[in-house]
Amino acid sequence: MKTKLAYLALTAIFAGSAYAATSAVDEDFMRNIEDTFKSADSAIGLKDAKTATADAKELEKLFAEVVDHYVKKGDAEEGVKLSEKSVALSKQIVVTVAAKDFDSAAAASAELGRACKSCHNVYKQD
Ligand code: HEC
Repeated sequence: MKTKLAYLALTAIFAGSAYAATSAVDEDFMRNIEDTFKSADSAIGLKDAKTATADAKELEKLFAEVVDHYVKKGDAEEGVKLSEKSVALSKQIVVTVAAKDFDSAAAASAELGRACKSCHNVYKQD
């Protein structure tokens, strides 16, 4: 009986750590990405370079974590590809905003919006 309880406890711990290892991309995390993305996109429209840059830099960091998540997950080529693309597009927003090229920044932001949807089509269950 005691052994069985110990076994159950261990199973729970392992299940917990497996969850922790793959939980980077969860609802809270994604809601943060969505808020930051919307803020960046509207700042680009308003030609608010300061906010757009801060948000795009934040998105770069967040999507780097998403890359990490899909690399660790394994067998998730599309997830790695789309999150790397999202990092690159966030970077492109930073660079184009720095050059005051808000049209190119808006184009990068629109493409980023499409990358969200592509990844959700593959990995997000409703
Ligand atoms: C590389 C994959 C990937 C990319 C890129 C991605 N997402 Fe997600 N997103 C997911 C996955 C997986 C979920 C489901 C998470 C869950 O429910 O645990 C999700 C869920 C969401 C949700 C729903 C959260 C909820 O309340 O259930 C929102 C909102 C969201 N993403 C916004 C975005 C936005 C905005 C972008 C782009 C700026 C984006 N995502 C880019 C993978 C991605």
